[in-house]
Amino acid sequence: MTEQERRKVEAKRRVEELRHLIATHDYRYYVLDSPEISDAEYDELVRELRQLEEEHPELITPDSPTQRVGGKPSALFVPVRHASPMLSLDNAFTRAELLAWGERVERQVGRRADFVSELKVDGVAVALTYEGGVYRRAATRGDGFWGEELTANVRTIRAVPMRLRVPKPPELLEVRGEVYLPVKAFERLNQELASRGQRVFANPRNAAAGSLRQKDPSVTAARPLRLWCYGIGVAKGLRFGRHSEALDYLREAGLPVNPATEKHRTLSEVYGYCERWQRLRHSVDYEIDGAVVKVDQFGLQEELGATSRAPRWALAYKFPPEERTTTVRRIEVHTGRTGRVTPFAVLEPVRVSGATLTYATLHNEDEIRRRDVREGDTVIVRRAGEVIPEIVGPVPSRRPQGARPWVFPHRCPSCKARLVREEGAADWRCPNRRCPSQSLEWLYHFASRGAMDIEHLGYVTLASLMERGWVEDPADLYSLTGKQLSQLPGFKEKSVSNLLEAIAAARQRPLWRLLVGLNVRHVGPTAAKALAEAFASLEELADASVEELMEVGGVGPEIAGSLHQWLQRPESRKLIQKLRRVGVEVEPERRKVARGPLAGKTLVLTGGLDTMTREEASAEAEEAGARVSSTVSRETDFVVVGREPGSKYDRARALGVETIDESEFLRRLGRAQAEARPER
Ligand code: IVH
Repeated sequence: MTEQERRKVEAKRRVEELRHLIATHDYRYYVLDSPEISDAEYDELVRELRQLEEEHPELITPDSPTQRVGGKPSALFVPVRHASPMLSLDNAFTRAELLAWGERVERQVGRRADFVSELKVDGVAVALTYEGGVYRRAATRGDGFWGEELTANVRTIRAVPMRLRVPKPPELLEVRGEVYLPVKAFERLNQELASRGQRVFANPRNAAAGSLRQKDPSVTAARPLRLWCYGIGVAKGLRFGRHSEALDYLREAGLPVNPATEKHRTLSEVYGYCERWQRLRHSVDYEIDGAVVKVDQFGLQEELGATSRAPRWALAYKFPPEERTTTVRRIEVHTGRTGRVTPFAVLEPVRVSGATLTYATLHNEDEIRRRDVREGDTVIVRRAGEVIPEIVGPVPSRRPQGARPWVFPHRCPSCKARLVREEGAADWRCPNRRCPSQSLEWLYHFASRGAMDIEHLGYVTLASLMERGWVEDPADLYSLTGKQLSQLPGFKEKSVSNLLEAIAAARQRPLWRLLVGLNVRHVGPTAAKALAEAFASLEELADASVEELMEVGGVGPEIAGSLHQWLQRPESRKLIQKLRRVGVEVEPERRKVARGPLAGKTLVLTGGLDTMTREEASAEAEEAGARVSSTVSRETDFVVVGREPGSKYDRARALGVETIDESEFLRRLGRAQAEARPER
């Protein structure tokens, strides 16, 4: 053997050894949670491996830990069909509901069942495929039937082993789990994004989803994503009698399984687990929104089966909305786009349900008086529907001495006009139509996704445009020039052209969007859509009498009166003409005949959906012929219940209105095939 050959053999041996060592340390760190070496020592191993691979490129293999960020950037996330559907879970919110589920389970199988209790981690569900023990593919849950391929991005997650640590790897193993971003990493990421002037993520879940859906895997690699595996989707060449055995196998094979997983023999033990973790939810560095209980015996799971959306052998116990205490630094008021003046509390920042709260609305004067919230008070806060910051009430025993009831200011915080509160009204209003705060909010509303949908136009930009006197009303937006925009702070060539393009694109929009954008009191999207179906233009609307407006379904005297009054005002007429002049044109409305799989149905959406935004869900439902309403009544055909549903869900239950989850909704839209097959 020549010296060169000898060196090569030695390099090959060391490369293999290093890979094995690194995989072992990954395993100790991510799965066993007991690292044996320091981060620096670990980095040294990776560095040595990288160097050897540089000297001997022929030794590089796709499963080398140095190749985690090496996959070619995926141009698009290709849809993949799951080998067996990734189902959703039914929810329980109370002990009684949990026990009732257990009774149903045991009644159906006629036997006692054992249970496995797990944490419900709030992240992104994924399926990882190993062929012959080697990592091959990863996909998101998607709609449960179809997901998106994310192989290169998931490979960058160090907790994902590239090879299973088993002597005889199975022919095929599809593992399911939740990818998440630890809370601390989430906070760090947001700080970093904010310091670069970029949009921050609302919570760790969104951050995890956003990090996974990167075109460039090196961006994903820079986000310290983690993974907990909680089940097997498909397995060829493996057999288990119990879910707990499958989890043990996964852990031995090197896949991270949450150590908080427990076996229980009775539902009261299960409930004890749920209660305990409700208390301990902040003792772990990731967000959990509940616990998941599963029947342990696979034989029983099979007997129980599944509905089209969820297995009968598993249940999610959802924690109630989290409540925290903090102090009220100040109470301030803000003038909105309709002139309504809303009081809000400036809080000592506090983390609640995955977000840091610094403000909470206090609704109106009477509400503050009723709850008696004062500056300096310690208050209980939560996020309504886990989203909107809300003050539950003060903690009277912790009120500082001398704290006085808060008094509503007499003047507008923006333009100093004297505020008015009409007889019988709950709100104070700023009567000044040229109030800067009202104008800014109006412009923001005009450009928002629910109205004219002008991208790249946020508060800061609008405020700068107003300050310079370039924009007073929405029509002015369309006359902005590149020269002007390039003078705005932070506006480079690219941002100027982006914004100009976005504004140009928003010259043609459906009439209803323009109507919503005009900010007429009581005219929301539902009324605007109904009106736009009956009238072809703003001019036509302006010629209509109140009675004619009221002939439109869903338009009552309040809406018709308000719109009519607005349209008659000289300054409104001027604005309409000005919009015409700058080239804003409404797209002709197709007269919609209710057609499609949901024709004639009225539905309500509540809570967050996994596969689309609420706006998209609304649009799809309407496309399918449904009417989307914002309130639940006996006339509602069904309510689509997403993550963390709000009071609409309770109301649906109280009225006995059908509730369905996202995958059933997708099925009714005709988007996915309905197959009921249990996960296995
Ligand atoms: S089991 C058929 N176990 O919750 C059972 N899901 O609402 C399907 N999740 O899409 C899921 N932690 O994203 C299961 N320990 C856990 C979980 C868990 C989080 C998520 C998962 C799933 C959703 C179902």
